[in-house]
Amino acid sequence: MATEQMTLLETARDVRERAYAPYSRFKVGAAVRSPDGAIHAGCNVENVAYPEGTCAEAGAIAAMIAAGQTRLTEVAVIADSPAPVPPCGGCRQKLAEFGDADTPVTLATTDGVTLRTTIGDLLPGRFDAAHMARS
Ligand code: THU
Repeated sequence: MATEQMTLLETARDVRERAYAPYSRFKVGAAVRSPDGAIHAGCNVENVAYPEGTCAEAGAIAAMIAAGQTRLTEVAVIADSPAPVPPCGGCRQKLAEFGDADTPVTLATTDGVTLRTTIGDLLPGRFDAAHMARS
């Protein structure tokens, strides 16, 4: 794996430690890179009212937007799972909002298994603004 990708994944690994997941006990870390090269990190933040919890990917995207960036060029997600953790359906749509179909996504386990995919492979047939063209 290229050094650049390791940095993104290591950032996701690091922020995962700070996830707030007392209910599921499933900590997730995510990191996204914006076109200026900056890395933005996020972790899952659960709530006793379960639907109010937020995913790691959403946190990373919020950090990117807060930093003034509106596109992402690369994504990494990591969890202590038996196989590289796939982003939930909602997070796939959130990633698609800011990335391209060919934007690389690295999914990883804490023990070192990685899976390389893309936003387009994670969300084929995505809903986008073109579908609202007649409105
Ligand atoms: N979770 C994420 O943060 N990202 C994913 O891609 C999958 C699931 C979180 C949400 C919840 O806090 C916990 O993992 C269990 O679903």
